[in-house]
Amino acid sequence: MASSKKIKFGALVHGVGGSVSSWRHPEAITDASVNFEFYKRQTLKAEEGKFDLVFIADGLYINEKSIPHFLNRFEPITILSALAAVTSRIGLVGTLSTSYSEPFTVSRQFASLDHISGGRAGWNVVTSPLEGSALNFSKSEHPSHPQRYRIAEEYLQVSRGLWDSWEDDAFVRDKESGVFFDPEKLHTLNHKGEFFSVKGPLNIARSKQGQPVIFQAGSSEDGKNLAAKEADAVFTGQDNLEEAKAFYKDVKERAVRFGRSPEDILILPGIGPIVGRTEEEAERKYQELAGLVTIENALNYLGRFFEHHDFSQYPLDEPFPDLGDFGSNSFRSGTDKIKQKAKEQNLTLHQVALQAATPRTGFIGTPEQVADKIQTWHEEGAADGFIIHSELPSGLSDFVDLVVPILQERGLYRLDYEADTLRGNLEVPIPENRYAKQKVNS
Ligand SMILES: Cc1cc2nc3c(=O)[nH]c(=O)nc-3n(C[C@H](O)[C@H](O)[C@H](O)COP(=O)(O)O)c2cc1C
Repeated sequence: MASSKKIKFGALVHGVGGSVSSWRHPEAITDASVNFEFYKRQTLKAEEGKFDLVFIADGLYINEKSIPHFLNRFEPITILSALAAVTSRIGLVGTLSTSYSEPFTVSRQFASLDHISGGRAGWNVVTSPLEGSALNFSKSEHPSHPQRYRIAEEYLQVSRGLWDSWEDDAFVRDKESGVFFDPEKLHTLNHKGEFFSVKGPLNIARSKQGQPVIFQAGSSEDGKNLAAKEADAVFTGQDNLEEAKAFYKDVKERAVRFGRSPEDILILPGIGPIVGRTEEEAERKYQELAGLVTIENALNYLGRFFEHHDFSQYPLDEPFPDLGDFGSNSFRSGTDKIKQKAKEQNLTLHQVALQAATPRTGFIGTPEQVADKIQTWHEEGAADGFIIHSELPSGLSDFVDLVVPILQERGLYRLDYEADTLRGNLEVPIPENRYAKQKVNS
């Protein structure tokens, strides 16, 4: 079921990194998470490497145990709007929660980013895993996992409806006749549903790519169904080729059951390549990172996935504790996987914590070895592309300078951008305006 399209790449720009200790690396810029120049340099490097997109992750609750990057970072739409002004081709994808926002505001923000960037915006639709988020949004409780996905589904219907408020050529702007817009091409949504009541219309036109590209990052049953029904791309964490192939096949088959083509939805696993000129150099780079992590840090990191559970209360060298259902209302697919692996492989708490905090990815090696792995995953139907993240300060540059040229030489990756919109480069369809479509069909 492998894709016929060329490989797609996104760069997760993540300030001081997604791990507990990468900020302590000798070359790390310690204020990178709130340093615009850092974000600009990383994004321009990704654009030099002809990446499809930069990706900004986000969260809505912190405490003193959160990793350094989460404590002090940019809000996604704000940083992406600034990056739009200094780039010309790369897509700009930001994370925003459907559990703690209003569709009118968010649809308008992404439509604005789409206009500012000339059709390069994308929205990573998340449902917010952390229960503490409720405390920051005047809510008495965090919606349950299934409820969050029901809210997300209705939310997306509302957003898509709002983005169709204006047909493509609705704004006439004829000074002579004084006609600013064609009222026949303006549509009021009048949505009244289980969770939202939104009249519309939206006060901004459709963009060059019709609607922002929709990303989804949940991997539970509900997450996969939402992705298969609505998303243009899925950002997922997959540990090995076999699991990645199964996930890929599963989501594409679900998309077909929702009446879509498998080519309409891209599966993009996140990978953290560590590239060295020799195998030894790559291994040394990995060890340098792993050596920065203390066991206390690793336990805190693991704890976040389980609602900041205090793992220091358990003996380190005994089997991973039985947590029952704990964690299933937060990062469900992730916590299920951690529990399952610990049981199957009979791992101690110490081993589980270190694996979570300093994962030894399969993408460590020479540029050729990393390129080979990428090629295999693409050809064997495990990935349409990858979201590249790196805990090493030089990780993105190493990848762009050393791995990208090999993939280009092999004809697997673009030499230049094919389009000037994100949809164009990702080769995902432009959603037709529903009202224009009705007129054509009637
Ligand atoms: C690769 C990946 C990236 C994610 N990025 C974010 C993020 O930036 N912000 C967020 O709130 N949740 C993020 N999530 C969490 C998911 O959106 C989701 O809430 C969580 O995985 C639980 O849902 P699930 O059980 O369906 O996977 C991410 C999940 C994965 C697998």
